[in-house]
Amino acid sequence: MRRKSRVLTGVRTALVAVAVASTGFVSACANLGGLNLETVGSQGQTTYVKLALNQTESHPSYIALDSFAQRFSERTDGRWEIDIFPNEQLGSQQEVLQFISSGAIEMAIVSGTQLENLNRDFQVLNMPTTFTDVEHQMEVIRDPSIVGDLFTSLEDENNVTVIGGFTQGTRHIYTAGAPIDTPEDLAGEKIRVQESDMHIRMIELMGGAATPMSYGEVYTAVQSGVLDGAENNEVSYVTQNHMEVAPYFNDTSHLVGLDYMIMRADLREAMSEEDRLIFDQEWDKTMEEHTELWGQETEAAIEAAKNAGATFYESDTESFNEALLPIREEFLTSDYQWELYEAVRAAYEEGEQE
Ligand code: GCU
Repeated sequence: MRRKSRVLTGVRTALVAVAVASTGFVSACANLGGLNLETVGSQGQTTYVKLALNQTESHPSYIALDSFAQRFSERTDGRWEIDIFPNEQLGSQQEVLQFISSGAIEMAIVSGTQLENLNRDFQVLNMPTTFTDVEHQMEVIRDPSIVGDLFTSLEDENNVTVIGGFTQGTRHIYTAGAPIDTPEDLAGEKIRVQESDMHIRMIELMGGAATPMSYGEVYTAVQSGVLDGAENNEVSYVTQNHMEVAPYFNDTSHLVGLDYMIMRADLREAMSEEDRLIFDQEWDKTMEEHTELWGQETEAAIEAAKNAGATFYESDTESFNEALLPIREEFLTSDYQWELYEAVRAAYEEGEQE
């Protein structure tokens, strides 16, 4: 039986928002009573951890997190309880990232694009051409020799640590008015992107006009004609009901996207070594489960979208991929970024030879 996440009342949501907006991050944490880091995980008490997610309860990320939370609680005899708040209940990804830094909440799933706004090195993993497929991506993000430094890079300044990630699968452009075949067809089309300079440029290179916007606003913006389309994976297309307002799903395959599991760095530090080990073991299983679920749910989403009347259009994928090649020279500006990129690509080549 699936555990139901505790319902967050409107009052509590407002409290988080008001406290953070009016009193600043540090005192917001104190106002909310925060977590006492000295006693977290102690015997005879339950430490409640708030985890923010912007997806629905039928999305694979919610399903995988829900079983992660159950297993972690069971293995720690109920000393830890992770409460998942789906559907942007705690705010957009940009907001929850700030709530984590301030200590108002403890964990969240955020897209890589959010982290690149804190450290541009994350752009390497949010860039078209970096990952060939989901398997390659998951191998890389589980390899500390490649991503170890990156994942700890936000701890000192932002109090955020990266625990690992979930794939966003391959992303495509979907449109309201007509299918698109090549970059020429996107001329003048306003396409929503995540809040990222690099993704704005990505759409420009693909021929369109980009509008950055948070995830939860996309449906209405397409419906009202503010946007002509958006870009995402099949699962989000269906769980967000975007197929109702943008019925052409075009195979642009322009990006294998990545979500991160992030956590307050001071909380991770405060966990006992034993609990941290249990957490990491269960998290590792969770990433595997999610990847498996991802494949199944992608297939199911395609079926559901077709049944709802969507058209899956075979665009000239190659023409979009070629148009995107200059993005590397434009955005990889330091030696470290190039080294990271080369290491990610080498992991793919090695995987191919095995
Ligand atoms: C995907 C991804 C989310 C992200 C969203 C978006 O659904 O999993 O983390 O927020 O895309 O396009 O904003």
